[in-house]
Amino acid sequence: MKIAMGNDHTAVELKNIIKAFVEEKGYEVIDLGTNSAESCDYPVYGEKVGRAVASGEADLGIAICGTGVGISLAANKVKGIRACVCSEPYTAKLSKMHNNSNVLAFGARVVGSEMAKMITEEWLNAEYEGGRHQRRVDMLAEIENRN
Ligand code: RB5
Repeated sequence: MKIAMGNDHTAVELKNIIKAFVEEKGYEVIDLGTNSAESCDYPVYGEKVGRAVASGEADLGIAICGTGVGISLAANKVKGIRACVCSEPYTAKLSKMHNNSNVLAFGARVVGSEMAKMITEEWLNAEYEGGRHQRRVDMLAEIENRN
C-alpha cells in the first residue's frame, strides 16, 4: 500500500519520523516534500497529497503542518478527499471507520512524535465500516458536486 506524505517547513522532522515508522510497517511512502526547513506554503503540499490520493497514485495520504489545519484544508479542496485533523488516536480511528477518511493530518506543533505514531497506527489499522455510513459519505460527495 502506498502512502503520499506532504508537509510544510514546520514538520520536516516529524514527517521523517512518521515516514520511517510507516515504512517499518511495510508501507511504501511517496514523499512529496518539503524536505527543507526554509519557510514554505502549506497549500502547495496539501494539494500535492490530495492529488496523489485522488488520482490513485497513492492509496492514502498523511499531511502535516504546524497545526494540521492549513494542510488539511488544502487537501480537502481536491475532489474526493476527506482529510481529517486528528490530535489523538480515537478521532483518527473513527475518521476512517465512519467517515472513510483518506488523508490523515496532524500538527507538528500540537502532537509529539509518540502521539503522532499512535494516531497514525490507529488510523492505518482501522477499516471503513461502510453500511449506514455510506449514505452520509455519499452526501459529502454530493455537496462537492453541487458547489
Ligand atoms: C506556519 O507558520 C503555520 O501557519 C502552518 O504550519 C500551519 O500551522 C497552518 O495551518
